[in-house]
Amino acid sequence: MGKRAFITGITGQDGSYLAEFLLEQGYEVHGLARRVALEDPAHRLTRIAHIASRVQLHAGSLESFPSLFRVLQKIRPDECYHLAAQSFVSYSFDDEFSTLNANINGTHHVLAALKDVAPKCHFYFAATSEMFGKAAETPQTERTPLHPRSAYGISKVAGFHLTQNYREAYSLHASSGILFNHESPRRGYEFVTRKISAGVARILAGQSKELSLGNLEAKRDWGHARDYVQAMWLMLQQPAPDDYVVATGECHSVREFAELAFRLVGLNASDHLTINPEFYRPAEVDLLIGDSTKARRALGWQNRVRFEELVREMVEADCRAAGIQQPFVTSSAVGASA
Ligand code: NAP
Ligand code: GDD
Repeated sequence: MGKRAFITGITGQDGSYLAEFLLEQGYEVHGLARRVALEDPAHRLTRIAHIASRVQLHAGSLESFPSLFRVLQKIRPDECYHLAAQSFVSYSFDDEFSTLNANINGTHHVLAALKDVAPKCHFYFAATSEMFGKAAETPQTERTPLHPRSAYGISKVAGFHLTQNYREAYSLHASSGILFNHESPRRGYEFVTRKISAGVARILAGQSKELSLGNLEAKRDWGHARDYVQAMWLMLQQPAPDDYVVATGECHSVREFAELAFRLVGLNASDHLTINPEFYRPAEVDLLIGDSTKARRALGWQNRVRFEELVREMVEADCRAAGIQQPFVTSSAVGASA
């Protein structure tokens, strides 16, 4: 019989790709979904609509230990991927309390329940490059000191330490993936890459004229979510738990992402891009670039999708959704001037 996996955050970007991947591997896939999502599948389960009949969803929320305990007791998974979180950094400045509450207690609840009902389960924690924040060195590795710059980053540092502590104190097979930014056409619209790809599509379709962003000089190491969920799975197949940086090793500014997205469809970013100070953050993370040598060597992980391909895939998907079938003017826009 195939293994049984449980995914918190199955309705999110990563959860949807991971569920697909695990189904392909023959897993029985269970997921946690909020009650409101289960009652409104047409709007809130869109990312997993195509696999809905093959996954089993259970109602629960991060804030409720009893809900998580009950679900885990019922499923007793072989592998647990804890992805659910308030994941938008910007929002964590507006509501520090709910971010810290959901993210820290949610992780603690899952770990504590697993310790009691499925102590042999392999556990994955969705850690993040945001933990490096005001990064002490470039590129960042598993040994780079942590200096979070937001309630979100702080909540993930706490989850990371909780995960390490359950590994050391209770011998749980608990690993953390320190994942750098990863995107896809399933990315939430609040994140800058999707905001750009959707904005470009709207402008091309004549539905709007401008795209308003914040700090264009921030630099990120952007990969594709489909590649990154494979790293999560690989971590849980190892004989011993550990922590791994997952990144492409290449970084680009928000400005570069936006300029390429516009250029691909024959538009000039400077004709449409405006700056709105409202989108600046009280404390910014200026530069993230990861060194994933450990994951590549120990797990055999590799990222397949490069920067231009990622931007293309996202812009193309949003253009198609806006009714434009062939949005691109060139086969390759890298190196071309605007
Ligand atoms: P996402 O698209 O925002 O998905 C977040 C998921 O968490 C959704 O399924 C959401 O459910 C669920 N969730 C949020 N609050 C919840 C609550 N209180 N109770 C139950 N479920 C709740 O995030 P993602 O991009 O897939 O990222 C997955 C994880 O990796 C997150 O923990 C994120 O912080 C971390 N991470 C992401 C990146 C990245 O670049 N994407 C990088 C590093 C780490 P609803 O659909 O009901 O809202
Ligand atoms: N969202 C957003 N909107 N960001 C903007 C905008 C804008 O209009 N303009 C500039 N930015 C800048 C932000 O200031 C930030 O420096 C950068 O674009 C990326 O922002 P996001 O796409 O919101 O992602 P993030 O890097 O803050 O966080 C994502 O990656 C983390 C991993 O490093 C999220 O997925 C986190 O959950 C994840 O942990």
